[in-house]
Amino acid sequence: MAEKVDLGLGANVRKKVADGLAEVLADHYLMALKTQNFHWNVTGPNFQGLHTLFGTQYAALHLAIDELAERIRTLGFPAPGGFAVYGKLASLKEAKGGESWQEMCAQLASDNDALVKACRKLGDMADEAGDTETGDLMNGRKEEMAKAAWMLRSHVG
Ligand SMILES: [Fe+2]
Repeated sequence: MAEKVDLGLGANVRKKVADGLAEVLADHYLMALKTQNFHWNVTGPNFQGLHTLFGTQYAALHLAIDELAERIRTLGFPAPGGFAVYGKLASLKEAKGGESWQEMCAQLASDNDALVKACRKLGDMADEAGDTETGDLMNGRKEEMAKAAWMLRSHVG
């Protein structure tokens, strides 16, 4: 049964934004898992620093994942939550395994950059369609992930 939602946004706008949020959510999940994988598997002279940095970053991504999923629910749609569906929706690539610490930092910096751009696109579309709440959510995501990319790049020098 369709959920009754009356937020001053057309059903088509809510659907378009919710679909965009589902893609961004899937990429957040993939990046959180990859970041946690690197938290576990990093080795080398920067072990402690990178183990801690990756730990902080995956924890932040998990908080964001909840916000993204709950925005989809607020807009009146089911939030996707499974590996198979995330695999279909995500654009980022999973870790292959065996990465050096430099490759881990470079890959995550590039993933964060890519997701900043995806959030910028979705936020601009939502703002133009009148869904400034999703636009605000995207602003927060862009700011946090741009900062994460800077920290990752700074470890490599
Ligand atoms: Fe841990």
